Amino acid sequence: MSAAHVLPAGPRGYPILGVLPDLRADPIRTFLDAADRYGDIVHMKAGPYHGFLVTDPAHIRHVLQDNARNYHKSPLYDRLRDNLGNGLLTSEDAFWLRQRRLAQPAFHRERIQAMAATMVECTEHMLERWERMAAAGGTIDLVEEMMALTQAIIVRTMFSTDLGATAEIVNRTWPIINRRIGETFWATKLETTLPLPANRRLRRALGELDAVVYRIIADRRHSGRDEADLLSMFLSARDEETGAGMTDQQLRNEVMTMLLAGHETTSLALSWTYWLLSQHSDAESAIAEEVARVLAGARPSFAHLEQLKVTRRVIEESLRLYPPAWGFSRRAVGDDEIGGYPLRKGWLVFVIPFVVHRRPNLWPDPERFDPARFTPEREAARPRFAYIPFGGGPRGCIGSQFAMVEAQLIVAAVARRFRVVPVEHQPIRPEPLITLRPATPIRAHVAFRT
Ligand code: HEM
Repeated sequence: MSAAHVLPAGPRGYPILGVLPDLRADPIRTFLDAADRYGDIVHMKAGPYHGFLVTDPAHIRHVLQDNARNYHKSPLYDRLRDNLGNGLLTSEDAFWLRQRRLAQPAFHRERIQAMAATMVECTEHMLERWERMAAAGGTIDLVEEMMALTQAIIVRTMFSTDLGATAEIVNRTWPIINRRIGETFWATKLETTLPLPANRRLRRALGELDAVVYRIIADRRHSGRDEADLLSMFLSARDEETGAGMTDQQLRNEVMTMLLAGHETTSLALSWTYWLLSQHSDAESAIAEEVARVLAGARPSFAHLEQLKVTRRVIEESLRLYPPAWGFSRRAVGDDEIGGYPLRKGWLVFVIPFVVHRRPNLWPDPERFDPARFTPEREAARPRFAYIPFGGGPRGCIGSQFAMVEAQLIVAAVARRFRVVPVEHQPIRPEPLITLRPATPIRAHVAFRT
């Protein structure tokens, strides 16, 4: 029988439900096991959905890039859309394209270069607090620190403001929203609308966050300033035919999307980086040596980035092992064929960076932390879609360069003055919500670099 008439092999799971209970209980384990057992392309049935798990870079490229027009975001994004609204991350087709084109200039290299100084300034502000902490011998919660820092940076660079006292609201409400959306990815609409305590908590958190976002918009409208930032780009956009501006609702959706997509992922990338460095003192020393040599005592700046190669490779390797966007998915708009197997209209495709980044044929000895995987020679020897922390194709991350510049500058600014030493014996487990978070806080001492 030709492959065109059969399905790829895959786990059978339970009657009717297929692998849905496994995906709800432990999605990462389920996807990892499926790829280990059945290979590059796996058929999975999850409740009403059929889907393929694809881990071959050629197949990933087909879905995300070459035939991207045939794919929309999967129904798993419905929960995100319900709560964050129809913004850049969740919208489709002509509407998405218009919004993406509006936002793109805010992410040009020259713009990011101009934002670098703000990134460093915000980091130095955090380090002033760390100085007092180091002197007193206290500990910090790394995720909390990184979350507050990247949030301050996104708000200042993209919206030219600072949240002042309301920063606390974002830091408090977002983990509640992330958890509930993560828990209900596979839930029915009913489960998410029943007046359960968890749903009520989500509504309350969203209401509080909404108020912060609407205030950012109202303040700018009121001041009438043009800051040449993302917010101004959205505010000054006019529909070509009608001349109408974006509604407050759409502005809220885009600001909310940028606020959340633009800080939480980067903060997790940094938290995982420090966690890995705590177990690999050779890499920690290599960064300290590089930073001391390249910066020669100065604050880091955009001009130093090219030379901070070790720092960059450590961050890249951290994004391989703990990709903050650990998995994403698509729905086929029309019939397609992947690897010779027919994929029917409406079926799903799962692209799981956490799994792809551990395929032994792409990444030898995959669990080993080895930043040298990112030397130019070794990078050139790998297919582009073997490494997908930022996705790829037209729906790839708009903020990937921003995030890499930010992470490199933060690691360098910290390493110049401090060593981050996580408290020992913390068994940290990754928890796959929307993003891959450490299941428990990572507590650390900060020690002055001598
Ligand atoms: C380490 C940090 C980051 C990671 C790992 C990350 C990862 C990703 C991934 C995997 C996607 C594609 C999702 C999909 O295909 O369904 C994505 C999309 C997106 N990211 Fe990021 N991201 C990061 C930082 C940022 C930053 C700093 C911003 C904004 C300043 C941002 C804004 C967005 C937006 C708006 C989209 C949707 C783009 C579109 O569909 O047009 N991200 N990100």
